[in-house]
Amino acid sequence: PKVTFINPDESRIELDIPVGTSLMRAATAHGIDGIVGDCGGGLTCATCHVLVEDGYLDRMPPVQPNEDQMLDFTAMGRSPCSRLSCQLVVTEEMDGLTVRIADPQL
Ligand code: FES
Repeated sequence: PKVTFINPDESRIELDIPVGTSLMRAATAHGIDGIVGDCGGGLTCATCHVLVEDGYLDRMPPVQPNEDQMLDFTAMGRSPCSRLSCQLVVTEEMDGLTVRIADPQL
């Protein structure tokens, strides 16, 4: 499935990500700045914050309580479409997904 990442400067990067790979792993493997993934997906760093663009939020897996807690510690602050990308494991239904990388300046 194809997933597009929008950088804070509005440039876009499209990746073809294998099903079963998290957005965080795919982004860090491709050197996308802004998705750091310090904790390796352990839900203790919140450096993998993304904002899911309209229309795709309901195709995402539900927010689990520990992700919900960590979303309160993101650098940019939380919005209703905030997710931690280490928890977003790609499925076929996510094809065409666009996520915005959290802006560390905000
Ligand atoms: Fe640390 Fe997602 S990689 S919370």
